[in-house]
Amino acid sequence: MLSSIQIRSYAKINWTLDVLHKREDGYHELRTIYQTVSLHDTISIADTDGPIEIICDDPRVPCDETNLAFRAVAALRQATGSTRGARIEINKRIPVAAGLGGGSSNAAATLLGAGKLWQIDVGYGELIKIAAGLGSDVPFFLIGGTALGIGRGEEVYPIEQVKSEHLLLVNPGFAVSTPEAYARLSRLTRSKAALNIHFTLLAAKGISDLPLVATNDLEEVVIATHQEIAEVKRRLVSLGARHALMSGSGATVFGVFDNSQTTERAASMLHAAGYWAQRARTVDAREYQATIFQ
Ligand code: C5P
Repeated sequence: MLSSIQIRSYAKINWTLDVLHKREDGYHELRTIYQTVSLHDTISIADTDGPIEIICDDPRVPCDETNLAFRAVAALRQATGSTRGARIEINKRIPVAAGLGGGSSNAAATLLGAGKLWQIDVGYGELIKIAAGLGSDVPFFLIGGTALGIGRGEEVYPIEQVKSEHLLLVNPGFAVSTPEAYARLSRLTRSKAALNIHFTLLAAKGISDLPLVATNDLEEVVIATHQEIAEVKRRLVSLGARHALMSGSGATVFGVFDNSQTTERAASMLHAAGYWAQRARTVDAREYQATIFQ
């Protein structure tokens, strides 16, 4: 049996995020198109005889039993009756509470990693169930690439893969609470008819155009209280982005560029202005699955 394993934990953006209505369980019914990107944390899991331990180089990440990677291993042990311990070391590069799915990705990567480390095969259905219990975005990170998420986001289907080589992720340096973002959606943003038109348009334009027509229903309500997000969008467009949009519940904005030079120039201008700015590209499902275990 392996004594340790290294895993890549990729970030995501949302090409679309349509909120339909609030459900009886308190979650919002969504239609979203998720996309994994090249920015990633690295996670190292060592098999031990002791308890589950989390070590992380980012002080904003809790290292106790509330950590999603901790909960992932605990859930896997519960499902299989395993009594093995694990030391989980997380090297963060994905900003925390930033709309890039960092915590959810860490949980899914840890689930896959611990399963491989302990040679546990719970079956895909059970793995999806454990992942969905950890958070709405976690099942997506079991497949990666471009995928449609429905329900509260936890029911995922791979779709045609979108390629975008020149993305710039920009974070203004404050965290946004996901429950608060959803709570501020006072009106039901989209009727089913409007949503159908939206997807029909997407289908007509072709999925390769998605990066340029990306939309996010949470953007307006989050910008209402965090106006710097609008400023980041403006800056990205004035620096040559063809399109700029907030990811998930924010505050990270992604800019879609045409070429490497413009992206690089925008990255250095935004760094100089004090922003966290990181170039990235899309990672399709095939690359995701081929590179998650290093
Ligand atoms: O599923 P997850 O724990 O990531 O969700 C965090 C919070 O975001 C939920 O407690 C809920 O307030 C909000 N949420 C929602 N509808 C969704 C997903 C998340 O209202 N589809």
